[in-house]
Amino acid sequence: MNAEHIGPASAPRDVFYATTPIFYVNAAPHIGHAYTTILVDVVTRFHRQRGDDTFFLTGTDEHGEKVAKAAERAGVSPQVYTDRVAAEFRATWDAMGIAYDEFIRTTEPRHQQVVREVLQRVYDRGDIFYGEYSGLYCVGAERFVTEKELQDGKCPDSEEPPEYRTEANYFFRMEKYRPWLRDHIERNPDFIRPERYRNEVLAMLREPIGDLSISRPRARVPWGIPLPWDEEHVTYVWFDALINYWSALLSRGLEQRYWPAVNHFIAKDIVKPHGVFWPTMLKAAGIPVYRHLNVHGYWLQDERKMSKSLGNVVGPLELQAKYGRDAFRYFLLRDMSFGLDASFTEPAIAERINADLANDLGNLLNRTLGMLSKFRDGVVPEFGPLEPDDEALRDTFLSLPEALSAHFDELHYERAIEEVMQAVRSANKYIAEQQPWALAKDPALAGRLDTVLRSCLEALRCASVLLESVLPEKCRALRVQLGLPDVESSLADARRWDGLPAGTQASVGDPLFPRIDVAALLDELAAPDTEPLEHKTPIDITAFGALELRVALVTHVEPHPKADKLLVLTVSLGAETRTIVSGIRAHYTPEQLVGKKVVIVANLEPVRLRGVESQGMVLSAEDPDGSLSVVTVDRDPVAGAEVR
Ligand code: MSP
Repeated sequence: MNAEHIGPASAPRDVFYATTPIFYVNAAPHIGHAYTTILVDVVTRFHRQRGDDTFFLTGTDEHGEKVAKAAERAGVSPQVYTDRVAAEFRATWDAMGIAYDEFIRTTEPRHQQVVREVLQRVYDRGDIFYGEYSGLYCVGAERFVTEKELQDGKCPDSEEPPEYRTEANYFFRMEKYRPWLRDHIERNPDFIRPERYRNEVLAMLREPIGDLSISRPRARVPWGIPLPWDEEHVTYVWFDALINYWSALLSRGLEQRYWPAVNHFIAKDIVKPHGVFWPTMLKAAGIPVYRHLNVHGYWLQDERKMSKSLGNVVGPLELQAKYGRDAFRYFLLRDMSFGLDASFTEPAIAERINADLANDLGNLLNRTLGMLSKFRDGVVPEFGPLEPDDEALRDTFLSLPEALSAHFDELHYERAIEEVMQAVRSANKYIAEQQPWALAKDPALAGRLDTVLRSCLEALRCASVLLESVLPEKCRALRVQLGLPDVESSLADARRWDGLPAGTQASVGDPLFPRIDVAALLDELAAPDTEPLEHKTPIDITAFGALELRVALVTHVEPHPKADKLLVLTVSLGAETRTIVSGIRAHYTPEQLVGKKVVIVANLEPVRLRGVESQGMVLSAEDPDGSLSVVTVDRDPVAGAEVR
C-alpha cells in the first residue's frame, strides 16, 4: 500500500511495473474492477516473490462528460462527487488487502501538470492542429465511433447508442503514426497479448485510423484539464487518462527505474485507446512505448458483461465477506482463462472453494498435521532414506517454480494454479498409498513414517509458497501452523525440500478453508423477497426533511469490547469515515455486514455508548419476532449518497 516493498534501485533484478486501468468514478467498484485489480495484485506479488523490482499502480479516472453527468445526477459538484467515489475505490481496495504502491487520481495537480507538459510537447512538434469534426460520439465510452464499428446501432464498447456531433476541436495527427505502429506490433509479437487482441488491433490499423480529437470546448465540458495553449478547450478524457501511467512515475521521480518495463492490464472493452491511441501518443511525445498490453475477457452474468447497469450485481466486498478474501481471489484467478470471457455465479464460487481449497489443500493440511500431532506430538521429524515414491513427490513439487514462472510469463494464471493443485492432489494420493497410519502400528517402521510425514510437510510448505500470491493470508497462516514464521516467502523457498527444520513444533489451527454449504446457498439464492407491508403514521414533511439520511459502505466491523449486544461499525461515506455503534450483534455477524451499503442517520448528535463514540445510527427493519434486518439500497449508489 506504500513504498515499503520497493527495494534498492541498484540490485540486479528484473523490473516489473504493472497497472490496472484507472476506473471511472461514475459508479462504485464492482466485480469487474475488482478482478483486474486483484489480478494485478497477484501478478505483482508473484514477481516480488521472484525477486523482481515491482511497482503496482492503480487509481481513478475523474474527468470527462460521463463523470460530470454522474455528479449532476447526484446533485453535487464534480469535485465533491469525485472525492467521494475515489475514496470509495481506495477504501474498497484497502479492505481487500490490495498492495498497490501508488493510487493516482487524474484531478491531482501532479497529474494535470504532466498532461499539460505532454500536450505542449506534441503541440510544439506540430502534431496537433485545430479543425472541425462531425461524427458519432459515445459518451459511455467517451470516444467517437465509426459507422463500421457499430453493432445493432450501438457502440461496441459501452453498448449504448452514440449521438451525432459537430464540433471545433484540436486534433492529434494519429494517422501519421499508423505505419510506425503497425510495424512495431508486427516486430513485437508480445506487445499486445493474447494474440486475438493483437490481431484485433492490427485489423484496425489496416485502414486509416484518422486523427484523434483531443479537446472539448470548455463552454460545453468544463470538467477537464485546460489545454496549455488555449484555455477555452479542455483535454479529451482519454488523452488525459492514459497519461496517468507515466505521470504517476514522473511525479515520484521513478520513471528511470520503471519505464518502459510496463505491463498494462485491461479488459477487452478498452483495447482501442490502449492499443492505438496510447502508443501513438507516446511516440509523438518522444517517450519510449510501453512493453506489454495484456488484455483479459469479461466476467459475464447471464451471458452479459457484468456492469453497474445490470443492477443485480453483488459487490466485491460482500463476496469477500461471504466467501473469504483469499478464497474469492482464488476463484477469480482460477475460473477465468486469461483473454477469454468467464461466467460468474455464486454456486460456482462455492463449488470451486469446496473442491480445491476445502478438499484438496485443506485435507492435505488437516491429515498431515493430524497425523503429525498423533504420531509425533506435532514435532517435525528428520527425513530417512528416500524411496522412489518420496523422490517422485519431491520432484513434482520442485519442478513447479519454473513451471509457474513460465505460466505467469505467458499469462496462464489458471494453469499455474491448476498445476500446483495437481501436485497437492498427488500428495493426497501419496498419503493414501503410503498409509502412514499403518506404518505407525509397527515400531520397526518408525523411520519410514518419519520420511512420509516429512515429505507431506515439505509438500505443504512448498504449496504455500507457490500459492502465496493468490492466497496471501492463508498461505502465511498455513506456514504458521507448520511452525514457521509469519513472513512473506520468496519463490526460492519452493526450490528446496528441506525448508522446515526437523524439531520444529507444528500446531493444528482452525481450518483454513471451511466448506461451504452449497445446498443452503442455493436455498438462499432462490429465496423470494417476502417483506410484509407495514402501516405508517402520517408525519409532517418538515419532520422528515430534518433528517440527514445517507448511504454508508460498511468497511469493517468488530464486537464492542464492553457490551455483548453491540457491534462497532466503521463506515465510509466516500470522503468521510465514521464509527457507528449499533445494537445488532444478536442479528448479524461482522462478516455479514462488511461490504453492505446500509442507510444511516448522519446528523444525529454523536453519543458515547459504553465508552465508544457513535457518529450516527444504522436503520433496520424489525420483524414481529424482534429480529432485525439492516436497511440496504437497491442498485448501487455511491457511498455518501443522500437518501431522500
Ligand atoms: N476510465 C477508463 C480506463 C482509463 S485507463 C487509462 C475505463 N474505466 S472503467 O471504470 O470503465 O473500467 C474498465 C475496466 O474495468 C475494464 O477494462 C476492466 O479492467 C474492468 N472491468 C469492468 N467490467 C468488467 C467485467 N465485466 N469483466 C472484467 N473486467 C471488467 O474504462
